[in-house]
Amino acid sequence: MKKLPKLNEEKELKKLKAKMNPELESYVGEILNHPEFLKRKQYHHHEDRSVYVHSLNVCIKTYKMAKFFHADKKSAAIAGLLHDFYYKDWQLDTEKRPFFQSHGFRHPKEALENSKKYFPNLMNKKIENSIVRHMFPLTLIPPRYGIGWMITLTDKAASMEILKYPSRWYKYLGIKKKEKK
Ligand SMILES: [Fe+2]
Ligand SMILES: [Fe+2]
Repeated sequence: MKKLPKLNEEKELKKLKAKMNPELESYVGEILNHPEFLKRKQYHHHEDRSVYVHSLNVCIKTYKMAKFFHADKKSAAIAGLLHDFYYKDWQLDTEKRPFFQSHGFRHPKEALENSKKYFPNLMNKKIENSIVRHMFPLTLIPPRYGIGWMITLTDKAASMEILKYPSRWYKYLGIKKKEKK
C-alpha cells in the first residue's frame, strides 16, 4: 500500500484553536470533542493535513465570513465543520468504483448522512443543503443558501496550496487516487 505523508496535526491545530472565540466554541465544541469526529485527526485530507484540521479551518473562515455579512453564523460554523464528515480515509480506500461514484462526487452525500446520524440535534435545512452541495461546480447543483456559497468558497480557498501541484489535481478532486506520472 502507498505510504501517505505524515500528518502535521498538533502545530496546525494549535494555530487554528487560537483563532477561535467563545461564541464559535459554543456552536461547534460538541462536534470538535465527539469521538467520531475526533477520528478525523487520523484521516488524510490533502498531503500532510488531516480532515480534522482542514474542516476546522473551513469552519473558522466560514464563521468569520458569515459574521461579516450578517448571515446565520451558527449554521455557517456547523456546516463548515461538517462539510467533509464522510465515512473513511478515502486515500486508503482501494475499492474500485465508476467515475461518478468516486470520492469527489460521493463524499458530500456521505458527509450529510454522517452529520444527520451523529448530530441530528444540530441539523437544519440550511446546514444540510450546504453540506451536500459544497463540491459545486464539480457536482452540478449549486448551494441554495448564502452560507452554502461561503463554504464552497472557503473550502476551495483552504485547499489553494494544491494549485501549485497540477499533477495532484485529479487526486484532489477524488477522481484518481494515484498521482499522474
Ligand atoms: Fe469536500
Ligand atoms: Fe473540504
